[in-house]
Amino acid sequence: MPHSSDLQALAGLLQIPQRVVVLTGAGVSHESGIPTFRGSGGLWRHYRPEDLATPQAFAREPELVWEWYHWRRTLIAQARPNPAHHALVALEARSPDFTLLTQNVDGLHALAGSRRLIEIHGSIWEVRCTVCQAVTVERRLDLPPLPRCPSCGGLLRPNVVWFGEALDAERLVAASEAAQHAQVMLVVGTSAVVQPAASFALWAKRAGACLAEFNLEPTPLTRHCDFAFHGQAGELLPAFLASLASRL
Ligand code: OAD
Repeated sequence: MPHSSDLQALAGLLQIPQRVVVLTGAGVSHESGIPTFRGSGGLWRHYRPEDLATPQAFAREPELVWEWYHWRRTLIAQARPNPAHHALVALEARSPDFTLLTQNVDGLHALAGSRRLIEIHGSIWEVRCTVCQAVTVERRLDLPPLPRCPSCGGLLRPNVVWFGEALDAERLVAASEAAQHAQVMLVVGTSAVVQPAASFALWAKRAGACLAEFNLEPTPLTRHCDFAFHGQAGELLPAFLASLASRL
């Protein structure tokens, strides 16, 4: 399907209240200094997912997995929201019905001020006990190499979704419902290859939503999109918000 790259036309659609859903991926945080997973410089170029982001890897070598997460937590702790995160806060403020679905575990959307937010892959700032399953917020960076549960002494793990694991059921239902009721869905900075996140956009499209993608480059989703904008999310999204504001 041919798509448009007319930002004004997309802004025009939002002049009447719409149910807006945004799906974001690692590209949104790239300009905050956090590496993406795929593409040049992507984390999966240097690490194999099966060594670091699976329950089997954690069972086999918890020290290695934690070492990677300690490193990522330190990196993310220094990162600040960028203009893409802030533009999505502004979009939420002007949208009566808005849901932000993110695959990112870095917490930068919440830090920027997004509220109607579903972190479908969990949060790197939460830990979960592998024995009693208690989930707690843990922001300290000086954790021991293998952190233990303060209540039961069980081994803690990052409360993120790894390959081969199911998404949290409540979040999955909420995200699917939002996607299927969307009238406009913006897909920002994701390679759209990890399920079920990538399918949310297709479900929205099938249910009649207008689909708009913001990415450095085309993805498998691009051919399903009504609009596709190629460039940095930190430039495209503020420009989109400026188009919206200029139409008021
Ligand atoms: P990827 O690393 O797969 O894709 C990042 C996307 O962002 C690519 O399509 C880039 O072209 C695009 N991109 C990079 N910088 C950008 C920028 N400044 N502006 C706009 N676009 C930009 O990341 P995700 O799609 O988020 O899952 O990956 C999905 C999941 O795979 C992650 O949540 C993670 C990973 O394995 C788990 O860990 C379960």
